[in-house]
Amino acid sequence: MSEIKKCLFPAAGYGTRFLPATKAIPKEMLPVLTKPLLQYGVEEAIEAGLNTMAIVTGRGKRAIEDHFDISYELEHQIKGTAKEEYLTQIRRVINACTFSYTRQIEMKGLGHAILTGETLIGHEPFAVILADDLCDNENDGVLLQMVKLYEEYKCSIVAVEEIPPQDSNKYGVIAGEFLNNNIVRVSDMVEKPEPKDAPSNLAIIGRYILTPDIFDILRSTKPGKGGEIQITDALLQQAKEGKVVAYKFKGKRFDCGSVDGFVEATNYFYKQSEN
Ligand code: UTP
Repeated sequence: MSEIKKCLFPAAGYGTRFLPATKAIPKEMLPVLTKPLLQYGVEEAIEAGLNTMAIVTGRGKRAIEDHFDISYELEHQIKGTAKEEYLTQIRRVINACTFSYTRQIEMKGLGHAILTGETLIGHEPFAVILADDLCDNENDGVLLQMVKLYEEYKCSIVAVEEIPPQDSNKYGVIAGEFLNNNIVRVSDMVEKPEPKDAPSNLAIIGRYILTPDIFDILRSTKPGKGGEIQITDALLQQAKEGKVVAYKFKGKRFDCGSVDGFVEATNYFYKQSEN
């Protein structure tokens, strides 16, 4: 049994790239086929053996809480009909874990959102899923792969993938020493570098395992790129002590925070549903 039980979902961002859809609907509730992005993330966390979901929300995000709850009127209405099966999967999710919520009052960046979640996490290693990065793999899900790796390395782990050089300014980019084909001991990381300044072509995607000392580091992390408190800057401090491993995960990742990635994910999951 892994010691990692809690998963933090920073979900307070404005999702401006999806306006006007995200004016009243949280980005994390946009559906790929019939399932909201956040539910895919929660299912991935459950598959990884986690049972405590900690969600950082913000103003206008109440639909998230309602989704992971019972809807009495609706459920009463369709009870005993063929439509009831549409709710089977979400019921399973609700029964498999607990949900707790806290609000980020000011959107000061991903690092700040993670720090806001400290009250729900406490002092233990934990996972982070950014639900707008939608991952899929035939075998173990990405988070399960990372939880297994944590048992070996017992330090913070970031999931990385190779990106085209011109995309480096959309990601945190790492550098370090390859321990094997898929694992890098991180020595440097830069948030959204221009291609000429990128230390490699390995970009961090929205899956992390973090050790709890990250909270103290975040507390003293100054705003970085874009005036936001960046998780990359805090991780760099751990990396300087050799305490961050980057993992080239097995599987596919869709950037559902962008329209192109969202459409790609929709087509991919639609094709899968036909098989
Ligand atoms: P993004 O930058 O991708 O999300 O943040 P965004 O700001 O909502 O989207 P755009 O760029 O305006 O379209 C990555 C993740 O961090 C969360 C977001 O909800 C998203 O899951 N986040 C970001 C917070 O929770 N709080 C913040 O202050 C910033």
